[in-house]
Amino acid sequence: MKINEAIERNHGHMWWVGAAGAAAGAVLMIYVPSLPAISNALLLFAGFHLVGALVLLGSLYLLGGNRIARRLPFLRKKEAEDFDFGWPLAFTYGPWVAVLVMVAAAVAIQVAAPAWWPLAACLTLLAAGFFAGGLITRASGQYDHAVLPFVDLPSGENSIILDGGSGAGRTTVALGRALKQARFVALDRFDSGYISGGGQSLLERNLRRAGLTERVRIERGDLTALPFPDRAFDGAVSAHAIDHLGTMKEQGLREMLRVLKPGGRFLLIAWVPGWTMFTVANVFALFLSSKADWRRMATRTGFAVADEGTFNGYWFAVLKKPDAA
Ligand SMILES: C[S@@+](CC[C@H](N)C(=O)[O-])C[C@H]1O[C@@H](n2cnc3c(N)ncnc32)[C@H](O)[C@@H]1O
Repeated sequence: MKINEAIERNHGHMWWVGAAGAAAGAVLMIYVPSLPAISNALLLFAGFHLVGALVLLGSLYLLGGNRIARRLPFLRKKEAEDFDFGWPLAFTYGPWVAVLVMVAAAVAIQVAAPAWWPLAACLTLLAAGFFAGGLITRASGQYDHAVLPFVDLPSGENSIILDGGSGAGRTTVALGRALKQARFVALDRFDSGYISGGGQSLLERNLRRAGLTERVRIERGDLTALPFPDRAFDGAVSAHAIDHLGTMKEQGLREMLRVLKPGGRFLLIAWVPGWTMFTVANVFALFLSSKADWRRMATRTGFAVADEGTFNGYWFAVLKKPDAA
């Protein structure tokens, strides 16, 4: 809060300096058109202030706006009714702050050094990419339940399905809603820094909200050394979690194979390099494992790739444990 107040106090002038500069520039342009250098400089000056003010407004929101919003009675009511998957504001709004910074830089280059227009054009394109990434990350924070590809998973009342890396339960809730009779185990280490509180209390709250507490058991554990006996599950899902395992991805797949019953199916959802991920993760998307890498890892582990596809820009594969294994 102190940081917010300091920003507000020291930079509140940005808005009116920006507005006054823009007005002065416009007046000069219209009534004294022979002074283009001065009117351009005034407009540039105003533009910087306005964009700066917008960036500060975004930063304010990231730094504390959420906490302020949660105190407002009408938003508190909404919060009590909605699911909360704990995504930080920097994740959901960060790309849009990047857009403002890049557009400002592009405008500055275009006005101050027009010969460098290719750089300004690249920055504008990058900003457009970040804008799309902002839409995607914001949507993933706002879903009141996750969207999953429609694949064949065991759904009877004797079926037990593992959600590996459940986080705050976005996927668990979607599974529970789709498979009305099955039971689930939601496993996570619940220590991630990017989900508020590591996710366990939000998961409990989301399951209560979805009426799923009876059918979901929560387990703390590691995806690379699952705390379950062999052949414990009829099916498994892991969304955006095994791809977080770095050099241990294959070990994560091996563990999934081990705990599945023979013939069991595993729905894997991962980020792979491509345009969608480029908008979200930018150049970092180039370091993600590719679809071919995943297929190779899955078959090396002993899975057969039964199906694969894309939904909402994410890649999924249905991996099957051989019947005889
Ligand atoms: C991006 S979140 C995805 C959460 C959820 N599956 C969803 O779709 O919203 C990744 C989750 O994987 C969990 N995770 C990462 N590495 C893990 C590990 N080695 N063992 C267990 N959970 C892990 C994190 O704690 C986090 O909750």
